[in-house]
Amino acid sequence: MKILLLSTIVIIGSIICSQPALAATDKINNAPDSVYIVPYTTTHDDGRSGMRFAWSPDGEQWFSVANGYRYVRSDFGNTKMMIAPRIIKGQDGMWHAVWQLSKTGKAFAYVTSTDLTQWSRQTYFMADDTDKATYAAYTSLASAGIKKQIILGKDTLESYMQKLPYKELEQLIRYGEHKNFCNIEDGELMKQDAVRFAGLPPVIADIRVNMEQTKTISNRLIGVFFEDLNYAADGGLYAELIQNRDFEYSPKDGNKNKDWNSTYAWSITGNNASFSISEAHPIHPNNPHYAILDIQQPGAALINAGFDGIVVKKGEKYYFSMFTKTLSEKGGKIKICLNSKDGKEIAQATLSVTSDKWKKQNIVLTATANATDAVLAIVPQNIGKYGLDMISLFPQKTFKGRKNGLRADLTQAIADIHPRFVRFPGGCLAHGDGIDNIYDWKGSIGALETRKPMPNIWRYHQTRGLGYYEFFQFCEDINAEPLPVVAAGVPCQNSGQRSHHSKDEISCAGQQGGIPMEEMGAYIQDILDLIEYANGDAKKTKWGKIRAQSGHPKPFNMKFIGIGNEDMITDVFEERFTMIYKAIKEKYPEITVIGTTGPFSEGTDYEEGWALATQLGVPMVDEHYYKSPGWFINHQNYYDYYDRNKPQVYLGEYAAHLKGGPNLETALAEALYLTSIERNADIVTMTSYAPLLAKEGRTQWNTDLIYFNNTEIKPSASYYVQQMYGQNTGNEYLTSTVALNNDQNAVRKRIGVSVVRNKEQGDIIMKLVNMLPVSTKAQVALPSLTGMDIQAQITILSGQPEDKSVCPASGSIKAGGKFYYEMPAYSFTVIRIPQKQ
Ligand code: AHR
Repeated sequence: MKILLLSTIVIIGSIICSQPALAATDKINNAPDSVYIVPYTTTHDDGRSGMRFAWSPDGEQWFSVANGYRYVRSDFGNTKMMIAPRIIKGQDGMWHAVWQLSKTGKAFAYVTSTDLTQWSRQTYFMADDTDKATYAAYTSLASAGIKKQIILGKDTLESYMQKLPYKELEQLIRYGEHKNFCNIEDGELMKQDAVRFAGLPPVIADIRVNMEQTKTISNRLIGVFFEDLNYAADGGLYAELIQNRDFEYSPKDGNKNKDWNSTYAWSITGNNASFSISEAHPIHPNNPHYAILDIQQPGAALINAGFDGIVVKKGEKYYFSMFTKTLSEKGGKIKICLNSKDGKEIAQATLSVTSDKWKKQNIVLTATANATDAVLAIVPQNIGKYGLDMISLFPQKTFKGRKNGLRADLTQAIADIHPRFVRFPGGCLAHGDGIDNIYDWKGSIGALETRKPMPNIWRYHQTRGLGYYEFFQFCEDINAEPLPVVAAGVPCQNSGQRSHHSKDEISCAGQQGGIPMEEMGAYIQDILDLIEYANGDAKKTKWGKIRAQSGHPKPFNMKFIGIGNEDMITDVFEERFTMIYKAIKEKYPEITVIGTTGPFSEGTDYEEGWALATQLGVPMVDEHYYKSPGWFINHQNYYDYYDRNKPQVYLGEYAAHLKGGPNLETALAEALYLTSIERNADIVTMTSYAPLLAKEGRTQWNTDLIYFNNTEIKPSASYYVQQMYGQNTGNEYLTSTVALNNDQNAVRKRIGVSVVRNKEQGDIIMKLVNMLPVSTKAQVALPSLTGMDIQAQITILSGQPEDKSVCPASGSIKAGGKFYYEMPAYSFTVIRIPQKQ
């Protein structure tokens, strides 16, 4: 990194920034050639909200620029602090900015801009580990000029004034004001509709479908994003009923919480018995801890409480397994029971422990009663000492009856979306909290007792019983393409404490701690091995053989792989991404590699991610954005002008966010936006709402598609939008025109229409969204159906904006060359017109 230095103009004086902003439209007579400008941040949040500017015509009176609009934010690690920002114009004509990343003043960010609105990628450096020239350049930049005191409301800050041509200030204001205006539009809510649409009569829409003007679109538009977040895997989709079955919970899992240890979820009852944890002779080095149960008086029991209780159903079978060994001379019998909350035994069977070597024992328990909060009790019948590990209980009725399988009802809810692909394992979980926490796929396959558990970036434990094999099997079972996402050699940009490169509390966290170059070869080989594991020949390839040994000789036929997850685009990232991309392209040119463009719909990572992918010729990029419903309403043209010669788009994470979680308002915003995505599905070829699953009481991210607890599935309104789209995809887009009897922009942008055809079946599918508080009476013209009278299926999702528990109603409707349909207020409708009756 080079910081280009410059001469500075500094004016002494105190700066007071409490005046209203100069509006972009204000006319200034005799405008000055130049003004003064200072960067500042708010102190109450340590500058996390970003860099703002104040300007002054004379160095005495000060005004905030665009009402305190934040022009650039710190992207560093999980702190995102921006302290003491400084800007200065270099001899190269660029603006150079630096700020401190922590209060210690040991680490700094550096970034450039041509106009103070668009910013380059950020680079970071430490005062004590940077080459001297860079640091010297920084210090002279940071202290160029004379310290100023700035009073902003209650805060007193220090900064340095620079001169800025007045024209550039005008542009800066115009940009900031425009962004402020967009933010106001994006904040539009349905609760304002009573005012916004006061007196609005029902709208009349004339919809004409042009059957001649068509384009081929993706038939993989709707997929799902699976990440072990909100207890989505362990305690969720993965049907294991025993919590901490491997005694591998650790304080590292639970944010250094000491309760997260090998005994988590376990307890002992009875007298003269003890339960301890040993690492002396484990089953496998990847699973180093096991339990020692020392029974001096029969009757004592080792108890597991499951994940908030164990649910069993009367008459159903449960597979119990456990590794055992005797540690005393004589072994003995162990009774395995399920007990209801009131202590009643509702299932039991007995096994014998005779060997002093680890041995896997399997028995089947049949429940004699229903229970939602049963516990497992392991009750040795004799005095003795026992080693126990991998204590597991699965319902026999998993999805498709798979061993080590998935919870049937939850998996069915996902399957009912008809997703065309499944993304796995994340999200942030894929690139992890520091490079030691990058998801290592090899540790997630093979015999369960040999898998490597991992701390979950979402602060709990991953057994990885639902690992890569189960993922591929799941995809096959629901007829979806597997879409693995692997880290681009860098961890999550919000990484905190776990980077093994960390020197102090902030140094080298996040993206600065990429996998060391000397380890990149092995890392890339791991990725190539993953592709071989999925697709390699069962006899001729090493990893194909391993897959076959796991029970799947046939390849899984994987077609896609994502490299990176909304990473910050840094030099560290770029170097590693490029290496991985080239290696995959060379060895597996048939695989579609998906690049990444940061966590937002705009900004530096978005721009730089796109630029890198375009330059390398990456076939597809993964975009992410979580936005307000108003944003989705106001950005329906987002993809209309995307360059069709650039990479295709996988919208890998998105959702409309409102405080309080998903409801009909957020769902309709997504449905509306998806009409525009279908229109652009020649370039946006895949989408996945995120996150998919959230367990009640364990929810860390509060806008999710499917909520659940141990007994119930509670789909959100958004779920039904995904399902209605997923079950009604087409592969040909039919252009339509929509003429309204109301020309208000606010009305027009709240009505969405998309018409597709499924070429194979011939069905024509109309999606109609009405986000207005009144109905929209649609007259539909479908010229190719003139003279026909077709019974079409109709599915309608409607209700009040704040409704959380809505579900669609189905029925039928007559369709033909011309037909009428009244879209209810606040509704999403799918009309499916079959070709053949
Ligand atoms: O979907 C939840 C999280 O959101 C994902 O892990 C991450 O990629 C994004 O920031």
